[in-house]
Amino acid sequence: ITRPPASLSLTNEHVVITAGPTREAIDPVRYISNHSSGKMGYALAEAALAMGARVTLVSGPVTVCAPSGVTLINVQSAEQMRDAVMSNIDDATVFIGCAAVADYRPEQVVEQKIKKHDEKLTLTFTKNPDILADVAKLERAPFTVGFAAETQDVSFYAKDKLTRKNLDMIAANDVSDDRIGFNSDQNALSVFWAKGEKTLEIADKYQLALQLMQLISEQLTQKHA
Ligand code: CTP
Ligand code: CA
Repeated sequence: ITRPPASLSLTNEHVVITAGPTREAIDPVRYISNHSSGKMGYALAEAALAMGARVTLVSGPVTVCAPSGVTLINVQSAEQMRDAVMSNIDDATVFIGCAAVADYRPEQVVEQKIKKHDEKLTLTFTKNPDILADVAKLERAPFTVGFAAETQDVSFYAKDKLTRKNLDMIAANDVSDDRIGFNSDQNALSVFWAKGEKTLEIADKYQLALQLMQLISEQLTQKHA
């Protein structure tokens, strides 16, 4: 597939996507983060745009370039990402949580650079808001799609997240497979929704993004039918 069929268009849809990692500050010069490249989320933004949607991309710090035509909102922390999503969700019809949001942040951001003293340093972390679950909880929630990065029992954990977070769809990838995942240009996905599932075989992230956006478009039509 190179081009989406015209029948599965996303014209009139507003798609909000989160992408990339978040950075959680420790002190003015340090943070904790993860290896997310943002490539999958940016590919989804490009695919949604190609299918005629209006796209808002809320992104953590990445090196990939945003496709022209998307509204890009740059953020650093999970809390900033949550605020940016919530300020743009009112007229969204689709939300895709593709960001690797840090589950925890340092409980306190130390005001001055931490100096080297003791042999050991202990940091205490506190839970970040779950952006995806918060969007799914909204009274007029958009069609909500999550991602699940798993290293084992992919289908079990993905289906658990689908029901527990009350999502419309979840796309799971096995990050223990080193051909795909975080920094790779390729990915493979197992997609689950309440009434079905589909395996999207290993492919370039843009081709995979087109296939996932088409699945979303089909299920969106079903939901509104
Ligand atoms: N997510 C989010 N906000 C968070 C954590 C996760 O929006 N604070 C979203 C991710 O963007 C992804 C989905 O939730 O779409 C699942 O992320 P994942 O890390 O696989 O699941 P968690 O619920 O965080 O559970 P765990 O890390 O324990 O597997
Ligand atoms: Ca997580």
